[in-house]
Amino acid sequence: MPTAARPFAHHGIAFGCDYNPEQWTAEVWDEDIRLMGEAGVDLVAINIFGWSHIEPRAGEYDFRVLDDVIGRLHAAGIRVNLGTGTASPPAWLALSHPEILPMAEDGTRRFPGGRQAWCPSSAVFRAAALRLVEAVAGRYGEHPAVALWHVSNELGCHNALCYCDESAAAFRRWLEAKYDNLDALNAAWGTAFWSQTYRQWDEILPPRATISTRNPAQVLDFHRFSSDELLSHYGAEADVIRPLSAAPVTTNFMVTAHIENLDYWSWAGEMDIVANDHYLDHRLADPTAELAFAADLSRGLGGGAPWILMEHSTGAVNWQPLNKPKQPGEILRNSLTHVARGADGVCFFQWRASVQGSEKFHSAMLPHAGTDSAVWREVVELGAVVERLAEVAGTRVEARTALVFSWESWWATQTESRPSQALGYLDQVHAAYGALHALGLTVDIVAPGADLADYALVVVPGLHLIRAGEAAVLTDWIAAGGTAVVTFYSGIVDQDDRVWTGGYTGPLREALGVRIEEFAPIAPGAELQLSDGSTSTLWSERSHATTAEVVASFADGPSAGSPAITRNTWGDGTAWYVGTLLEPGAFRDLLGRIADETGVRPAATVRGGDGALEIVRRRGTDASYLFVVNHGRASASAEASGFELITGMPVTGDVDVPGGAVRIIREEAAA
Ligand code: GLA
Repeated sequence: MPTAARPFAHHGIAFGCDYNPEQWTAEVWDEDIRLMGEAGVDLVAINIFGWSHIEPRAGEYDFRVLDDVIGRLHAAGIRVNLGTGTASPPAWLALSHPEILPMAEDGTRRFPGGRQAWCPSSAVFRAAALRLVEAVAGRYGEHPAVALWHVSNELGCHNALCYCDESAAAFRRWLEAKYDNLDALNAAWGTAFWSQTYRQWDEILPPRATISTRNPAQVLDFHRFSSDELLSHYGAEADVIRPLSAAPVTTNFMVTAHIENLDYWSWAGEMDIVANDHYLDHRLADPTAELAFAADLSRGLGGGAPWILMEHSTGAVNWQPLNKPKQPGEILRNSLTHVARGADGVCFFQWRASVQGSEKFHSAMLPHAGTDSAVWREVVELGAVVERLAEVAGTRVEARTALVFSWESWWATQTESRPSQALGYLDQVHAAYGALHALGLTVDIVAPGADLADYALVVVPGLHLIRAGEAAVLTDWIAAGGTAVVTFYSGIVDQDDRVWTGGYTGPLREALGVRIEEFAPIAPGAELQLSDGSTSTLWSERSHATTAEVVASFADGPSAGSPAITRNTWGDGTAWYVGTLLEPGAFRDLLGRIADETGVRPAATVRGGDGALEIVRRRGTDASYLFVVNHGRASASAEASGFELITGMPVTGDVDVPGGAVRIIREEAAA
């Protein structure tokens, strides 16, 4: 959890963007700053990719342009989120030190010419980066415009896993610190298998490409090591900044679909404020639900504290197979979904659309079309709305439901050899979260082993890797009266990727009252019938209920007759188990029934609507704020009274939320 040693002090909700003035001339900067004023921009991230501009040759600094830009922004009352500039090393560094370049698992180096071409364990890179940070923080550390430090950029976006010799040596040091001796490492990795026993530390390599499948415990530890290496890079930059500046320090996380390499549970405590970048992923079945999930996870990383949406887009990105623009009004809806879910800042990548470089077809606040464009008008409208939400800043989201999320389970689920290659951790998480989202329930995302005392309902999707202590937290909480829903492929391995024996789900088995003997996944696209008339995909298992009541069983397929959905009384609580991937409607209905029984409800009663609705309450000391975002076309109405901040009107009883609209009601009386 963040220490929040240095609070991010800002008036209201920050509104801003990445700004890359080095791509433009001074005349353009004047227009930029004038238009930023028009849009209400008050926080601008600069110098993210500045290295080759401010250090054109080794040890030779040129801050003239950066001085000028920071001065202009400051004069216009715009605060600076100052990049350390180390994200993308300059060409001279790679030429003089090619050993900094990252190596892929097949032993080939990656060339410069893109960005982030550096090995996280490279001592040469680290030293060069820290020299730059010292120069930047020394120059601007006390500048009144600097509101926040932005270390590097999306650490590990491209270079999280490096397999070079220097990384191998660092991996060995990390392993020695973890295991102390080779007997412990051999035991943890199960190296008795395939004659892999290590007798000297030097024999150990990163899990480079092998002729057959790799040791999954080695792969798991390499993930942990790689996440720690980049966190150590963050810490090293932050340590240089802190004595030179009183401003808070953070970096932009990538809590977004498909980015799996950093265990942000271990990172978040090093941030003064959590910041996240989020882009809608149109490859997913439900991108809007995933947006809500990412926002809830960003809040969870900070232990519920407000966080900053450091980047999102006004329209299409440039890196998906099909890059879709946003629907009319979607910029507002998506931005305010993040705010509803705890963001105290709404920023975009980027300010002005590039006309050159590989991101020239990425949307921006100021598009190629200029100010005579729908995107610009929506940006200006959003800026005005954000301004009206100042009083929401600092308030906290209320939730009675939690979902347990684990990067370690993600890594351990997706090893090379698994029961079905179609089995993905995130798919299970998204399915469970999507069902809760469709029900309008507010969800906190928590780490395995987190204290669950604040929750009535806890959902545990596919928690493949679980430590005995983490399982005990969950089962003790159930016994004390909680209701949990655990889904398949949970409780399969321990922290060393060693199978829990005696029948799956290992340390959860007794509390769930079901014993699984054998997995029986089915082909992608195939469907299973359940005894209650619903259908499911992907997974079945041969099991029997020990103490649980069978709510539905497999009616066909390889596990016909085995329980598919069970419910067990455990102490004063209830433990549900779902041994298949229910089709979305059935999953939603099941979780809806469980939520009803548990007394968990949406933050307000909302009627109508024909699409997803966000219904979230943020509570402060003097007032609470009910957010209702209507992603559909049909009108919805919410039971609420108070003052509506977007229309500026008092409301009593029933608040109309037209299709595509957002309403934010200040509820003065306790809700
Ligand atoms: C990331 C990066 C930005 C930009 C965007 C494009 O978020 O931090 O520099 O590349 O992706 O979507």
